[in-house]
Amino acid sequence: MQDTIVTHLTPKSPISEAFRNMRTNVLFSDIDNERKVLAITSCGGSEGKTTILANYGVTLCQSGKRILIIDCDLRKPQVHRRFELDNSTGLTNLLLKEIKTVDAFRKTEVPNLFAISAGPIPPNPSEILASRRMAEIIEELKLHFDYILLDTPPLGMVTDAAVLNPVVDGYIVLASLGSVHRDALLNVLDTFKKINAHVVGIVANKVPISKKFSKYGYYSAYAYYGDENQPRQKAKKEKKKWRKDTVIKKIEPLIEQGVNERTEPNPAE
Ligand SMILES: Nc1ncnc2c1ncn2[C@@H]1O[C@H](COP(=O)(O)OP(=O)(O)O)[C@@H](O)[C@H]1O
Ligand SMILES: [Mg+2]
Repeated sequence: MQDTIVTHLTPKSPISEAFRNMRTNVLFSDIDNERKVLAITSCGGSEGKTTILANYGVTLCQSGKRILIIDCDLRKPQVHRRFELDNSTGLTNLLLKEIKTVDAFRKTEVPNLFAISAGPIPPNPSEILASRRMAEIIEELKLHFDYILLDTPPLGMVTDAAVLNPVVDGYIVLASLGSVHRDALLNVLDTFKKINAHVVGIVANKVPISKKFSKYGYYSAYAYYGDENQPRQKAKKEKKKWRKDTVIKKIEPLIEQGVNERTEPNPAE
């Protein structure tokens, strides 16, 4: 088990307490509807989806639930690494009916936490995640677990997270502060609105804990701004300004504008 699973290694730490708050908020976000299958996604890669999902899973187990994490990131699977599990077979073999459902989920070091790793990477992830077979598998697995958590690739880059909507009861959108841009996040929320998906909430990750926050370390991944014909200096200056304007540094205003306005079903539609 990797040391990024802090909730298991140090259950009394402030970080673990933050995950318990997340658990309470998610569970109470919609108490009339049981949301058994939750998926996590984000705009970009390396925002912390796998890390947060794994820790969230551990926290749910600590409240006495039986949890399954499925690695639906069939592009950059990481769940097996986090829990140090074998990935020679996994979800893809299950989808191809090469293995049985009961043989697919593996025990982790955390009591009551199980995982299905991705298995061999297929050529057509979106297609197979959208298949009827995937829905059958989830239905069957629901009989064995209290909650099923799906790890997915970034929705700002590929559609895999969205095609899972028919099997997902709620999405957790992860936003890595200091790296994700407002418009990219609003696009993701718009995508969910269009497909009538339920967003349980936005979780802020990599929240700054010191003044060093002004040194953003993740800019390069999002450097899609820039006109090659512009003089370099000017382009650099404008890029800096644009980044300063749009990088999300606080989650609260976004939740007010974004989630509340964008994910409520519109009766006129
Ligand atoms: N809150 C955090 N603080 C510090 N490092 C983090 C945090 N969340 C994630 N990371 C690190 O960032 C990297 C990417 O995280 P990962 O969960 O693999 O992202 P994703 O699944 O979105 O690609 C990993 O090395 C992970 O340990
Ligand atoms: Mg990941």
